[in-house]
Amino acid sequence: MYGLVNRAIRDCVVEQFGEPTWLKIEEASKTDPSHYVTMTSYPDELTFTIIGVACEVLDVDSTTLLRTFGRHWVLNTANKEYSHLMDFSGSDLRTFLLNLDQMHEQVAITFQNLRQPSFSLEESDTETLLHYRSERSGLTEFVVGLLDGLAEHFNEPLKVTLVSSRLEGADHDVFRLQF
Ligand code: HEM
Repeated sequence: MYGLVNRAIRDCVVEQFGEPTWLKIEEASKTDPSHYVTMTSYPDELTFTIIGVACEVLDVDSTTLLRTFGRHWVLNTANKEYSHLMDFSGSDLRTFLLNLDQMHEQVAITFQNLRQPSFSLEESDTETLLHYRSERSGLTEFVVGLLDGLAEHFNEPLKVTLVSSRLEGADHDVFRLQF
């Protein structure tokens, strides 16, 4: 993944646990600042190694870490560094989710090797389902954190329930959203 993602993990850890804790994670994961250059694309394994080591050093499970990172991504990384894209993509949660793929298409103009996820809403009279498709697995809880962050960003209540899981053999993850 792009160094932007690795750098955001570092920023999230530094903000919440302090620089000395991050330096322990760097040491244990054998990484250094050359591994989080924003516009450089790194193997996904690097990002997953950093996440795994961070869980060990911080003594938290991956669900907690990925959700925390998801919220941080929206409320800090996206809001502070890409506010134009955030503003452009909608002024309420539902509209924003409908435009998410288009937003990543915009991101891909700059990040040309982007392997972006895809999100689609399936709406009926009784429920709203969010389909999350990705060539990667293991990021389901990151998406939950992102959705929590978006709910906070738009100041809208949101309950997220995973109703179909790729880990359990489904084609992709599906979340029920209750606004
Ligand atoms: C405007 C701010 C955003 C920017 C600049 C951005 C950019 C990126 C980048 C660079 C990646 C790494 C992909 C790669 O290296 O191949 C990524 C991944 C991802 N983004 Fe965004 N993104 C933004 C907002 C969002 C939001 C609001 C969501 C909310 C759902 C989201 C969901 C994801 C997910 C789930 C991934 C993980 C990749 C995967 O599932 O395969 N992004 N994004």
